[in-house]
Amino acid sequence: MATAALLQKQKRKSMKKRNQSKQNNREISILAGNSNPVLTNAICAHLGVSADKAIVDRFPGGEIRVQIQDNIRGKDVFIIQSTSTPPNDNLMELLILIDAARRASASRITAVLPFYGYARQDRKDKPRVPITAKLVANLLVSAGASRILTLDLHAGQIQGFFDIPVDHLYSINVLVKYFIKKRIKDLVIVSPDVGGLKLARAYSKILDAPLAIVDKRRESSTQTKVMSLIGDVKDRNVIIVDDLISTGSSLFEAVRGLKQFGALDIYACIVHPVLAGPAVERLKNSELRELVVSDSISIPKEKQIDKIKVLSVAPLLSEAIRRIHYSESVSTLFKEMWV
Ligand code: R5P
Repeated sequence: MATAALLQKQKRKSMKKRNQSKQNNREISILAGNSNPVLTNAICAHLGVSADKAIVDRFPGGEIRVQIQDNIRGKDVFIIQSTSTPPNDNLMELLILIDAARRASASRITAVLPFYGYARQDRKDKPRVPITAKLVANLLVSAGASRILTLDLHAGQIQGFFDIPVDHLYSINVLVKYFIKKRIKDLVIVSPDVGGLKLARAYSKILDAPLAIVDKRRESSTQTKVMSLIGDVKDRNVIIVDDLISTGSSLFEAVRGLKQFGALDIYACIVHPVLAGPAVERLKNSELRELVVSDSISIPKEKQIDKIKVLSVAPLLSEAIRRIHYSESVSTLFKEMWV
């Protein structure tokens, strides 16, 4: 009897130990939709892991078909998907992948959105319009996301649309290095609108350059107009800093305006290359010297032109994933934003 009780106790102890070590060594699993396979591969290479296999394609009627082919039971799952063009397909792929991972008993699911689409619809700025950025947040949580990892949100307040942890990274350290190496003389950092001021100020501090702001008015979803300039760009080189370029209207109107105000060489440093509609044509015809972007969104071949320089955020995202996985601090990755 005593021996049986002892054996039972030992069995319980060893079970407890095994469970504990499983908790601590939960395996990492990387899954991805079809939005940005190049970035996913680069992140996996930095982490030294392979992505788990999953079918993410279409049924004949166009519905999305997902099947995770590797066992992810009990794993710490990261699903990488930018909700970039086509935003609705990419969002739906992400939601369905999260649902599949939850039903496959993943222990934790982090939705990694290098680009968070719909972020510009973050408030009611007209009567009877939706707040779609909040709707997307609700959908991600309802699908089963336990946490969010994202990059350069259009508005930082979107973090508050979630009641789950959000790690919000900034690509500034990656992008600014490129300009530090360029050693551009007589530099001014320009924000193309008031909303981008905080980001532009961070660049101006690191590059030790004065700041100017374009007073922009949006006339339609594809047209903007420069009203005036706060600051001085005469006989100076300029870097325009922004979170995203869609049709390019904000950027190229700003370039035109800055040239009229006497700017010399103009560069743009923009995190997310949405590059919708006429953007690339406008870029070809503009006096902008170079457009520097991140690879948060993959640029289709036909839109890749010499004027666009792509810098990779894979090392930043993979380091954040590693730190989240091992419960280490993520904030030290973007401390320059708060100087
Ligand atoms: C505006 O608040 C954003 O930061 C971008 O400047 C803007 O949405 C880009 O759109 P587009 O390229 O179509 O002007």
